[in-house]
Amino acid sequence: MELTWDNLENECKSCTRCELCGTRTNVVFGCGNRNADLMFVGEAPGESEDLSGIPFVGRAGRLFDRYLEVVGIQRESVYIANMLKCRPPKNRDPKPEEQDLCIEYLRAQVKLVKPKLIVCLGRISAMRLIRNDFKITKEHGVWFDKGDYRMCAVYHPSLLLRDPRKKTEMLEDMKAVKAELDRLTEK
Ligand code: URA
Repeated sequence: MELTWDNLENECKSCTRCELCGTRTNVVFGCGNRNADLMFVGEAPGESEDLSGIPFVGRAGRLFDRYLEVVGIQRESVYIANMLKCRPPKNRDPKPEEQDLCIEYLRAQVKLVKPKLIVCLGRISAMRLIRNDFKITKEHGVWFDKGDYRMCAVYHPSLLLRDPRKKTEMLEDMKAVKAELDRLTEK
């Protein structure tokens, strides 16, 4: 089948590849600018996302929005997606087999968006997209070139809710993301 946004979104929204289809309210496909230079990839939908069908709209999402605002990135200008499109029950970690079955959707989204920068939100997406032994505490904010994409990982906003001491590092990382975006888009 031809890779188009419509085909991909329809396929994803009727997906029954793993057991999470039985417990989801909505598939959380992704949102934002489909021609974005910057793409963020989180872990998996939480309760608010499952109910709304939109990524990062709960408590963690609102905190993430504040970082975007403070560093001068408009949420509408970026594309936001998750590794998993359906909520794992009780927000447990995504299982490797769920990631294996779901990552094809994310790869297709990346192909369609063709961002210059991909920023992983948290260790789960960094371990899958950057390196399987990625250490978020040591390597957050470090840039990696992988194929056509420049990538880094920042702390997951949920972690910042649990450990506010990490907020200073997050702000520095997000400022660096904005600077890299400006550099690559020559603003
Ligand atoms: N956490 C994530 O990783 N993604 C969301 O969409 C919401 C919370």
